[in-house]
Amino acid sequence: MRIGVLGTGMVGRALSGKLAELGHDTRMGTRDVASALAGTEAARDGSGTLAQWAERHPQVQLVTFQEAAVYGEIIVNATAGAASLEALRMAGEENLHGKVLIDVSNPLDFSRGMPPTLAMCNTTSLAEEIQGAFPEARVVKSLNTVSAAVMTAPEALAGGGHTMFVAGNDQEAKVLVEKAILRDGFGWKDVKDLGDIRAARGMEMYLPLWLSLMMAGGAGPMFNIAVVT
Ligand SMILES: NC(=O)c1ccc[n+]([C@@H]2O[C@H](COP(=O)([O-])OP(=O)(O)OC[C@H]3O[C@@H](n4cnc5c(N)ncnc54)[C@H](OP(=O)(O)O)[C@@H]3O)[C@@H](O)[C@H]2O)c1
Repeated sequence: MRIGVLGTGMVGRALSGKLAELGHDTRMGTRDVASALAGTEAARDGSGTLAQWAERHPQVQLVTFQEAAVYGEIIVNATAGAASLEALRMAGEENLHGKVLIDVSNPLDFSRGMPPTLAMCNTTSLAEEIQGAFPEARVVKSLNTVSAAVMTAPEALAGGGHTMFVAGNDQEAKVLVEKAILRDGFGWKDVKDLGDIRAARGMEMYLPLWLSLMMAGGAGPMFNIAVVT
């Protein structure tokens, strides 16, 4: 499939790299290609600057948000939560029409320092705001509950026996994401469909617990939860 990943951070890199490795024609979107490649800040995941990462992943073409959205049959929103609506506007509403939009973002507000708070919760979620702003996109919330490194390598933890969630209004879109991307692609074994896009509230409101677990757990970001009965 042709996939346009919006975002050049740890998540955009992890997803683009893995999707390309799986054989998908993948393009990664940024605001401005030249300034993104000129960036000198190394990512926290050890993947270096974007230019260094791009050099190691020649199969992933770095393009603008708009070009990535035009190209992709499936779009991934891996942009900073506070900027996601703006990034998707830059991608172009018309370029999202009818397309599956996998939203992995979290509405984290770092303006009052660490730990971040949620910029919205309880009665809405970033995924719902995205679905409302882009009604023709088929938004599927997923992967936001684990760190970037776990998203594409669930087998690295407890043999993959832990839980990933999906939520969204479009059943067909959810089935496609669950089967083609999560299960067959990344190797997730336990995927729970939580229902329509309103279930993204819980997925995003899990973040304070995720942050507490990371700080208390001693395992860094390499952990996940399993739903057991
Ligand atoms: N890091 C994780 O392990 C993790 C795990 C789960 C979910 N998430 C969520 O996934 C998303 C991506 O996280 P990340 O850590 O990879 O990177 P990030 O630093 O949160 O986001 C980087 C991306 O956001 C874009 N961006 C920033 N400000 C913007 C603005 N004003 N307008 C338009 N675009 C803007 C950047 O564009 P440029 O390329 O132009 O700079 C870049 O592509 C976030 O919503 C995060 O909460 C992260």
